[in-house]
Amino acid sequence: MSAHPSANQRSASGDRLGARRNSLQEEIDDLVAHFGAERSALIPILQEIKKRHALINTFAMQYVADCLGISPADVYGVVSFYSFLNEEYHGRFVIRLCRTISCDMVGKENVARQFENDLGIKFGEATPDGKFSLEWANCIGMCDQGPAVLVNEQVFTHVTPEKVHEIIEACEKIYQNTPVKGKKGLAHDH
Ligand code: FES
Repeated sequence: MSAHPSANQRSASGDRLGARRNSLQEEIDDLVAHFGAERSALIPILQEIKKRHALINTFAMQYVADCLGISPADVYGVVSFYSFLNEEYHGRFVIRLCRTISCDMVGKENVARQFENDLGIKFGEATPDGKFSLEWANCIGMCDQGPAVLVNEQVFTHVTPEKVHEIIEACEKIYQNTPVKGKKGLAHDH
């Protein structure tokens, strides 16, 4: 058997790629219909793509840019600015600490150091067991209640170094009870 793909195989894989792109286009069309074709819809649309496909590929970014009438560079910029849109790997519990000015002024640095000490990793890293990853976030809209932290989809406000222990313990408890890999939000049981 030849090591090289035949013309038929190449055309089949091209068809599959085309079909994937068409279905992604349809999905994005639906998202634009749902969220609107304004620039303000950009982040919700990207978040939804990220949630469904785990990553936002170049094709998706270009197509979203076309739909919203903005430049692909704008979309790349937003994806790389917001850490929750551009991570390719994270732990089961993704801890995102806001680093923007209001949270910065009320002690985000102490909170950051506490997370790093407790988990033994730096921001941008995941624990070797895959349980936790630490990420910086830009303003998550809780500026008057900082320091603000997102754990998966749950928001924690007025976070102190003491509260860091509680957050990690709550995650550990959930992990013990449901040791299945996934990225569910924290249950409202703590
Ligand atoms: S500055 Fe931290 S949530 Fe807005």
